[in-house]
Amino acid sequence: MVGPYKKNINSEEKGELARFASLLVKDHSVIGVGSGTTIEFFLVYLSERMEKEKMNLKFIASSNKIAKKAEELDLVLIGIEETHSIDQAFDGADRVDGNANLIKGGGGSLFRERQVLLKSEERYILADCSKFKEDFSGQVIPLEIIPFNAFYTIERIEVLGYKAALRKDGESYFITDNGNWIVDVTKDINEPLLNIYEQLKLISGVVEVGLFLNDDFRLVKPKQLNDG
Ligand code: A5P
Repeated sequence: MVGPYKKNINSEEKGELARFASLLVKDHSVIGVGSGTTIEFFLVYLSERMEKEKMNLKFIASSNKIAKKAEELDLVLIGIEETHSIDQAFDGADRVDGNANLIKGGGGSLFRERQVLLKSEERYILADCSKFKEDFSGQVIPLEIIPFNAFYTIERIEVLGYKAALRKDGESYFITDNGNWIVDVTKDINEPLLNIYEQLKLISGVVEVGLFLNDDFRLVKPKQLNDG
């Protein structure tokens, strides 16, 4: 396992969420796709639906890995700069709290995921049961950092009371699609998430923080959690 969060669990549930979400896609749209195993299932179901219903969609990928999956399925990919706005975005999450705030970046593509979500009119987040936590205390928050002077950046993070671990991929450091590194940080969180987001984002060298504070996210979650 490369990131801090397990990927290969709840496959059946992820598949069900993905199939349901594929039915929410509107024809003749530009669709932003996040990353992760749930979104890979989503693309498979959606490509089946597209074929059956002869749908006309264009896709913007938030990682090289999901772009590859889209290419394998013969989906039309465009660059994010080629469109002024994205009609619908579908993404996963590593953790979701009771206020629909998210932790993302377990797969390492948080910066591009943020850009795709920001540019989208509708934002759907597919989350299986394992993702839901009452709050984020003690949970790992991934940060994307610039490799230049990275150890100084990490010191600045630690001074704020976080434990920081530079993510590895085998013997090497994990490298993001933007050529950056990932630091996984933890702390017992007893302060507003916005403060945490802001203090980490203000450190020079931090490109992106894996805290996605509720931005009108529409949660696609298992039936047993659909209580409101
Ligand atoms: C990628 O960096 C993350 O933000 C993903 O959205 C997250 O890891 C979800 O992955 P799974 O769908 O594989 O659980």
